[in-house]
Amino acid sequence: MCAGLNLRESMVIARGFTAAQCGDALVQHGVDSGEVLVTGATGGVGSIAVALLSKLGMTVVAATGKPSAAGYLHSLGAATVIARGDVDDRSGKPLLRERWAGVVDTVGGNMLATALKATRYGGVVAACGHVASPSLELTVYPFILRGVKLLGIDSVNLPIAARRVLWERLASAWKLDVLAQIARDVALADLNPEIDAILRGQQQGRVVLAHTLV
Ligand SMILES: NC(=O)c1ccc[n+]([C@@H]2O[C@H](COP(=O)([O-])OP(=O)(O)OC[C@H]3O[C@@H](n4cnc5c(N)ncnc54)[C@H](OP(=O)(O)O)[C@@H]3O)[C@@H](O)[C@H]2O)c1
Repeated sequence: MCAGLNLRESMVIARGFTAAQCGDALVQHGVDSGEVLVTGATGGVGSIAVALLSKLGMTVVAATGKPSAAGYLHSLGAATVIARGDVDDRSGKPLLRERWAGVVDTVGGNMLATALKATRYGGVVAACGHVASPSLELTVYPFILRGVKLLGIDSVNLPIAARRVLWERLASAWKLDVLAQIARDVALADLNPEIDAILRGQQQGRVVLAHTLV
């Protein structure tokens, strides 16, 4: 645990640490203006990404399959909330109208392909998830005609030194004041429906097992 983050706050962030890696990747590669897309926006990683990128001053567009979650996503800092289908292009076109300065993709598959095709010249896409699919079907045109950068994000084997830097940032300059909105406490006896919701893609934010806090 870091000074500046209590145990509960650390647990709420948890796998959302990956969102911090994605945010860091976008910042390191110069994304500082224009719209930034977050896919799977109500998920554990997506929620932290929306909140963090917004805190970093980016104009966040949150893509979700849950129309009822628009208020939640705006409360985390999303400037715009769009439907998942709006970033799931099936036209077969190799390139789409340039829109995104940056992307944090937690979903993979056709949504990642769509995001890459619609990323602006020189834009950056951080790919960390495969909720929809691990496959990626596209041409090289986003890379060789628009200089789009696709960055892979892995939190599991990240060296401890880099891990410490990001956790310390999450405990200070990047500390999120919306963590309470992102998480709900659930008792061990009530955990199964929460796991079922994750498997159905219906979970929102983070669920903290209350038992672990005593
Ligand atoms: N690279 C790494 O080191 C690393 C670390 C942590 C997690 N991950 C990966 O990141 C991904 C997200 O993790 P998480 O903890 O945020 O998962 P999660 O809490 O289950 O959230 C996933 C979100 O994706 C969206 N979604 C669900 N099913 C979908 C579908 N069929 N098509 C499109 N969108 C769908 C939903 O959000 P909406 O309803 O808002 O669209 C859902 O809430 C997972 O694939 C996980 O394995 C990778």
